[in-house]
Parts: sequence; C-alpha cells; structure tokens
Amino acid sequence: MTNRGTIFSGMRPTGRLHIGNYLGALTNWVDLQADYDCIYCAVDVHALTTLDSPEDVRAIRPNIREMVLDWLAAGLDPERSIIFVQSQVPEVLTLHTLLSMVTPLGWLMRVPTFKEKVRQMSETEESVNYGLVGYPVLQTADIILYKANAVPVGEDQLPHLELAREIVRRFNNMFGPTFPEPQAKLTEVPMIRGLDGQQKMSKSLDNHIDIAFTPEETVKRVRTAFTDPQRTKRDIPGRPDICNVYSLHKIFNPGDVDTVHEECTTAARGCVDCKMHLAEGINRSLEGLRERRRELEARPGYVDDVLEEGARKAKAIGRETIAEVMGKMGL
Ligand code: TRP
Ligand code: SF4
Repeated sequence: MTNRGTIFSGMRPTGRLHIGNYLGALTNWVDLQADYDCIYCAVDVHALTTLDSPEDVRAIRPNIREMVLDWLAAGLDPERSIIFVQSQVPEVLTLHTLLSMVTPLGWLMRVPTFKEKVRQMSETEESVNYGLVGYPVLQTADIILYKANAVPVGEDQLPHLELAREIVRRFNNMFGPTFPEPQAKLTEVPMIRGLDGQQKMSKSLDNHIDIAFTPEETVKRVRTAFTDPQRTKRDIPGRPDICNVYSLHKIFNPGDVDTVHEECTTAARGCVDCKMHLAEGINRSLEGLRERRRELEARPGYVDDVLEEGARKAKAIGRETIAEVMGKMGL
C-alpha cells in the first residue's frame, strides 16, 4: 500500500441499494478511490446482530451479491480497492474478542444506537443478544485490523467512531502504540427523502427507489410518490418547496428545476406528468450504471472472484495485525 492513507468503510448487506444509499454513500466511496487506498467491506457478521428469522439468514448471501453488484456497477474498482466480505476474513473476529477485553461495558451501553436498536427490536437491555452490545467493538475491529486512518460514514455513525477512537487509545496505552486513531470522514450529502415525502429514504420504510430498478419499475414506483397534499385537483397550484418530487428533480433534472417550479406554482403542469419527468431523469442518470450492472451480472463467477481476491488481500493485512496484537497482549 502507498502512504496516501487508508480508508475503510462497511455496509450491512441489505440487498440492492436505493438512491439514498447511492447518493449518500456509494458515490463518495467511488470518488475516494482517487486519493486513498480504499477497503470496502460487506459486513455480514454485523447483519447477524439483528436477524430474527431463518429467512433473514438465507437472505444474507444473495443480499451480499446484489449489493456488491451495485458497488461494482457504480465504479468501485477491484483493481484499485479491496472489496470483500467481512466473514471471509475471520481475523476480524479474533480482533473483536481481544478488543472486548479493553472495552468497558458502560461505554457500549451508552451508545445511542444501542438504545435505539433495543427499542426497535422490542427487546430490553437484558434480553438483547450479547452480539448487539458488541456491535461497535466489531466495527472498531473492522477498521483497525487494516489500520485505517479515515472512515467515510454518515452522521448516525459518529458515536461508533468516537468509541473506536476510545478503544484505540485504551489499547495503545495499555499495550503500546499499535493503531492509528481512525477519523470520521463526513461529507455533505443531501438527505434523500423517500416516496412518502417525509422520512429519509429507507428499505425498511418501503419508500425507496432501487438503483437497479428497470426503467419501467422506476416509473411505477415514482408514480406512487406523495406530492403537495393541498394539490387535490390538477388546477390548484402546487408548492414545490414542500414536495419531494421537486427535491428529486434538483438532483436528477438539475437543468429543469426552474421550469418545474414555475409550472408547478402556476398549475401549468400536473403531478402525474411531473413524476413521469422525474422518472425519466432518474432513468437517464442511472442508464450507464444499470447497463454495467447487467454486464457484470451476466459474467459467471465474476462477483465471487472479486470477493475472493479482496478477501485474500484483506487477510494478508489482517494476519499481520493479529500477530502483532497477540504479541503485544502477551499471548
Ligand atoms: N455500522 C455501519 C452501518 O450501519 C456499518 C459498518 C460496520 C461500518 N463496520 C463498519 C461502517 C466499519 C464503517 C466502518 O452503517
Ligand atoms: Fe410536486 Fe411536481 Fe406536483 Fe409540483 S407538480 S406538487 S413539484 S409533483
């Protein structure tokens, strides 16, 4: 590796990505490849922390494949970056166990995402699985196994990064300087609202538009978008500034924004046509990505080969770190 600095980031394998994931994270990951050594990981072990049915378990592998196809189609480049699946480099699990010896339980119980998850899963802090409590320790292990310097994440992950730095400081104090303190790399990304026009786009809310949709699926989905609720009739002027279709035009039809605004506020355009116009913009923007995705998908074994090669490279780094850590910890 060069001395450009190492970037690590991970995504839980939830299957095909939607345009919120794409604009919020993936395009940024792609761009970082120009300036850093990048390591991108499908964190399947993390996915196990919140599973609740055998169907969820069976979905992990196909979900990894669909997500990685999106990554590759969007421009993550296996020639330049390490792209791999977390569980294929089990050294991270060893590091997780070792780090858990220097992580006070109180730190983990205080992480806001832990309390939130417990609530979401309708569990209590007593009934919830032990793995969920250790989620940020595993995330720390992900990052520092590769001695990454920076981690591109959304704001919701800042508490995890803070905890990672605390664990690193504690480890380095007890056993000698070993790991760099990983910095969060926040990028100003637009918050993409879903088709309900209210909440952040997310798969669990079913308000999403997948990047891998066909053009027809995109049209169908966009047709269900909520618009200005006061616009109950075609001849009532709309309020684009409260309409998420308008917000999405800014991203996918940037050249037409003024026209949309004008025609909406004067009732010169109806919402049905406006949505069709948006769907066309989305389809045009994603045409190249979708084409590449189809090509990659058709190549037998391609995704598996990429992931195998990624795991091989990641493992080479991981093994060295584990040897160093074990020695320092007196094992
Ligand atoms: N917790 C992250 C999320 O939910 C996923 C993740 C796991 C991650 N390990 C990581 C992100 C390491 C950055 C670095 O989005
Ligand atoms: Fe929204 Fe377009 Fe309808 Fe105006 S015309 S309310 S911007 S969908």
